[in-house]
Amino acid sequence: MGGYRILLLNGPNLNMLGIREPSIYGSDSLAAIVSELRTYARERGVELRDFQSNSEGALVDAIHDAFNWASGIVFNAGAYTHYSYALRDAISAVKLPVVEVHLSNVHARDEFRHKSVIAPVCLGVCAGFGRWSYFAGLQALLWHLDNKGQPEHSSKASP
Ligand code: DQA
Repeated sequence: MGGYRILLLNGPNLNMLGIREPSIYGSDSLAAIVSELRTYARERGVELRDFQSNSEGALVDAIHDAFNWASGIVFNAGAYTHYSYALRDAISAVKLPVVEVHLSNVHARDEFRHKSVIAPVCLGVCAGFGRWSYFAGLQALLWHLDNKGQPEHSSKASP
């Protein structure tokens, strides 16, 4: 395991973690989670780059850009998860392995959160474990990369 470059991508309102509904999303800031996740990745020889945006287009651009350098993506698309066909198409376009993550258990919440339009084009989903969803998602992606190898086009991402 190691030598991969992973994009940690966070969508709308996740910049408000720590302030936003802490009973649902916890009291850690996104910066604190990213910093711990980066350490976790580094210990496994993995480079983690992170990007957060509240704009759908900027997230689409980040996915396109990842095509040029990333081995895979850990993605919390926030509310866009439930209705953004643009993000789904972006994932399909780059054909990178993507793990969908959510802090909360979306299936135990409002009906509209039960549906993910990106899930069918993702490797799998980690939801409901708070900040640990990100760690579980990253670990699952690394296992996948170790077992399946990197997609052909991302040979540029090899160390
Ligand atoms: C979320 C769940 C979404 O339904 C919600 O819109 C978010 C956060 C989560 O991490 O639990 O913004 O993706």
